[in-house]
Amino acid sequence: MARFDTPDDVLECLWGYSASAALGAALELGLPWLLADAPLEGSAVAAALGIPLGRCGWWLQVLVRLGLLERRIDGYILTPGARRAIVESYAPDSWAFLAQEDRERLPVVVDLARRLVLPPGHSRLPEPLPDYVARMAVDPERARRFTRMLYDLHGPLAECLAAALDLAGVRRLLDLGGGSGVMSLALLRKNPALSVVVADIPAVCAEGRRIAREKGLEDRISFWEGDLLSGELPRGFGAVLECDVGVYDAGLLAAVRPALDEGGRFFVADLLPESEDDYPDRVLHWGFTGSLSGGDGARPTWLDLEEQLRAAGFEVAEVRPLIEGFRLLEARRGPGVPQ
Ligand SMILES: C[S@@+](CC[C@H](N)C(=O)[O-])C[C@H]1O[C@@H](n2cnc3c(N)ncnc32)[C@H](O)[C@@H]1O
Repeated sequence: MARFDTPDDVLECLWGYSASAALGAALELGLPWLLADAPLEGSAVAAALGIPLGRCGWWLQVLVRLGLLERRIDGYILTPGARRAIVESYAPDSWAFLAQEDRERLPVVVDLARRLVLPPGHSRLPEPLPDYVARMAVDPERARRFTRMLYDLHGPLAECLAAALDLAGVRRLLDLGGGSGVMSLALLRKNPALSVVVADIPAVCAEGRRIAREKGLEDRISFWEGDLLSGELPRGFGAVLECDVGVYDAGLLAAVRPALDEGGRFFVADLLPESEDDYPDRVLHWGFTGSLSGGDGARPTWLDLEEQLRAAGFEVAEVRPLIEGFRLLEARRGPGVPQ
């Protein structure tokens, strides 16, 4: 977050949108990988990416100022920090997809001073974006890229989750909104007697199946294609997991209970806040832009979720930290509440 001390601090923050857009374009056009190993002159970058020379020069200067690039005598090269943070972390298309998503969100903050005062759902200004699941449902290529991107990003979280979850005695697990299956695959590797059903929309399941085949675990994972909000879920599970899905609709929670065997456990891993002024940075970003594109962007706190779970017939055992701000809630299917 910015610290303000001088007028220049304010102006730097005010102009941040052009730097942010310059970075996004670099990620979408693959610039970090072009300049990862050897410097290139501005004219060579312009020719490689098909950008008019003068415009390319300004863009590269902005990226130098941002700390993405260094200007050397023999051209531009990626800084060591940017190399670590970008090239050595996620795949090029994962970064391209993340940058594309933010480019698509950008119109909701244009004209913000007028947009803030509009009631939710008002469409006089840029059309609200359909939510990300609806966009994937009609665009299989988008669903494929999103699913691969999250497989890439969620690897460390999956390893941490697999280490944290004691699934002794659980033979079947339902992974709600399981996407690429990254969590499920880590759990399968850790628990040799386990099998998993991933529930997600058909376009996401298609990529999840491909990933499971690549990892050689397709015999122990199957996919349930459907809408989590339909009120119907498959049944007969010792455990249900919902990781980074953020859907806590009363109908879904009511459907989880009968999906579990007697005494079965419901695990929720998410980035929910402790209180309403304690949002993790990325939740603040999604919540704020989401609130401008249709809904009011509301997200429950952990305490809200615990209350919702008790109302749906669960006993909440504990909430503990995972990594990257994620926490894990464990609840047990309670006795005696009507289904
Ligand atoms: C952010 S991703 C998380 C995927 C996975 N759990 C992980 O941690 O990597 C959320 C997933 O939930 C799925 N999802 C969200 N709402 C859904 C709904 N109503 N019906 C089916 N799937 C849904 C999305 O398609 C997406 O794959």
